[in-house]
Amino acid sequence: MAKQKTVYVCQNCGANSAKWVGKCPVCSEWNTYVEEHTSKEEEKAKEKSYAAKSGNAVPVPIGDVIEQDTERLNTGDTELNRVLGGGIVAGSLILLGGEPGIGKSTLLLQIALQLKGVKILYVSGEESDRQIRLRASRIGIQNKDCFLLTETNVQAIFKQAEILQPDVMVIDSIQTLHTVYVESPPGSVSQLRECTAEIQRYAKESGLPVFLIGHITKDGMIAGPKVLEHIVDVVLQFEGDRHYNYRMLRTIKNRFGSTSELGIYEMQGTGLRAVINPSEILLTQREEELSGIAIAAMMEGARPLLIETQALVTPAFYGTPQRSATGFDVRRMNMLLAVLEKRSGFKFGTKDVFLNIAGGLRVDDPSIDLAVVVALISSYQDKPVSSKIAFAAEVGLSGEVRAVSKIEQRIAEADKLGFSTMFISKFNSKGIDESKYQLELISISKVQQLVEILF
Ligand code: TYD
Ligand code: MG
Repeated sequence: MAKQKTVYVCQNCGANSAKWVGKCPVCSEWNTYVEEHTSKEEEKAKEKSYAAKSGNAVPVPIGDVIEQDTERLNTGDTELNRVLGGGIVAGSLILLGGEPGIGKSTLLLQIALQLKGVKILYVSGEESDRQIRLRASRIGIQNKDCFLLTETNVQAIFKQAEILQPDVMVIDSIQTLHTVYVESPPGSVSQLRECTAEIQRYAKESGLPVFLIGHITKDGMIAGPKVLEHIVDVVLQFEGDRHYNYRMLRTIKNRFGSTSELGIYEMQGTGLRAVINPSEILLTQREEELSGIAIAAMMEGARPLLIETQALVTPAFYGTPQRSATGFDVRRMNMLLAVLEKRSGFKFGTKDVFLNIAGGLRVDDPSIDLAVVVALISSYQDKPVSSKIAFAAEVGLSGEVRAVSKIEQRIAEADKLGFSTMFISKFNSKGIDESKYQLELISISKVQQLVEILF
């Protein structure tokens, strides 16, 4: 019997300690330490496996390294291509995180089925061949080059990959995998870390790009896994509201591209549909003008989006007025309310205020401020604002309307979608060639002007 060593490992950040501790001194999470065992033999075996794979590299001058454009494999999906920075890079390890049931398996199976002219190995440790087959029939795409493997042992997966020689591999999910070099159960931090590191090494050596699915804990972290984010090349997050059919694919880390990209999908009965023109779905069709609605021209990554902000302002009958915001920072809303109260004399102090961003989207872009302010005033006064007007500017503490980035792209998008007027900051209007656009630009420098012009 090999001598066992017991360590306690934080399941959140991977820190370890010889004794159990209640609060992790590294990541400050409570109750995350779990007992894990390693044996001396195991460690030796691990060291050997590392040693066998290293020691052949020699230093080279940076100028002698051959520069070449990274070749990218087209995934056949416009949204995923953009999020990845133009396609799949050979030998890259891509982690796809998301809550259970959000559609991670559907997305990657669909990509696997869509890829043409390459061999794909879809490894599942979660579902049986038949379940996956069922899902594939639902998606309704045939691909004879897509192979299924139900396996959870990393070494066995590599063995099959050696035989099949696929061009792309998908592993569903990292939490089900285990490697012979670690004794802890699948899903524990040491297993996750070791399995991911082994897959990363395999990907780099063979040039095989690998997609890894990872589950997310309730607080939005890929289970265990800040540790994993360092190992992999790309971290994607698949998110969305259960009550909406829209799903957002975000880049959190990308060694081969920008991290501010967003892909939007719609979950349908037959798989996911890429939403090419998101503004169309984010703007509701309405027959009459309603109060409390204003449209913001915001940016998600490099892409302009027109999105509806909705506010409801009602008299507060019970004690402290209610303040609630969905998809927008409630503290920022409170700040905007205070600005309106102080600079324009609105009495929000006696009102309940609710704010909602349409489509279940969560917005950080401050350029949405102006639209939020307009929606608030519109609901307060119960006066609708035309749905042909768009807004893009940040609002400062003294009620000043500030410039935002990429203004021309926002204007061009609003123009394309048939808006007649757009409000921007005076400080943004310099150097804009208005004759290029059909829409009328109104530049303002203070929120008070907004009230005078619109209400
Ligand atoms: P799934 O990919 O299994 O989620 P995850 O791998 O992230 O846990 O998808 C889950 C949901 O998607 C499930 O509730 C059923 C739904 N779905 C559709 O609405 N349409 C479809 O075509 C498919 C395949 C799934
Ligand atoms: Mg799944």
